[in-house]
Amino acid sequence: MAGPLPLHEGISILEPLLGTWTGEGSGEYPTIPTFRFSETVTFGHVGKPFLAYHQATRELDETGEPGRPLHAESGYWRTPELGLAEIVLAHPTGITEVLEGFAAPNSAGETDTLIIDVRSSVIGRTTSAKEVQRTERTFEVTGDTLRYTMRMAAVGQPFQHHLAATLHRA
Ligand code: HEM
Repeated sequence: MAGPLPLHEGISILEPLLGTWTGEGSGEYPTIPTFRFSETVTFGHVGKPFLAYHQATRELDETGEPGRPLHAESGYWRTPELGLAEIVLAHPTGITEVLEGFAAPNSAGETDTLIIDVRSSVIGRTTSAKEVQRTERTFEVTGDTLRYTMRMAAVGQPFQHHLAATLHRA
C-alpha cells in the first residue's frame, strides 16, 4: 500500500492548513442580532495543486451547546504563483465568492505564522440570493491555531466586520 499522497509542491506554502479544525466564533452586522457559533473546517488534498475546503457552523447559545446549523461553505484554495492565493467558494445561500490575494509565511519572533489575506474579485449571486457586494477574509495559522476574520458590504450596508473565529487543529 502506498503511504499518504505527498502535497503538490506548488501549494506547499498551504501545508499548515491541512487537517480538521474546530472552534468557536462570533458574528455581527448592523441588520441582524449578534450571534455566536461553533465551526468545523477541513482542508484536504489529492496530490494536485489545490486544497479542498469544507466549513460548517452551528448556533451556540448561552449554555455553549451547539444548536441549529448556521452558515456552511465549500470550495478550493490554490497558490498559482509564489505569494499569491486564490479561493473559490460556494454557499448554500445562492452565493459564490472568487477571492484573490496573498499567502505569506511570517517568521518574525518565536513562532511561524502563515497569513492569507484575500478580497473578492467576483461575487456571484442567484436571483433569490441576498445582495452581497464585496467580501474580504484574513486567515492566520500559528501551529495548531487558526484565526480568521471576514468583512463584507452587503444588503445596502457599508463594508464592515461580519465574523471572527478561532479554531484548533482536531
Ligand atoms: C461562519 C460563517 C457565517 C455565519 C455563522 C453566519 C451567520 C449569519 C447569521 C446568523 C445571520 C442572520 C440571519 C440568519 O440567521 O441567516 C447572517 C446574515 C447574513 N450573512 Fe452571514 N454568516 C456567515 C458567513 C457569511 C458569509 C461568508 C457571507 C457572504 C459571503 C454572509 C452574508 C450574510 C448576509 C448577506 C446576511 C444577511 C444580512 C441581512 O439580511 O440583514 N455570511 N449570517
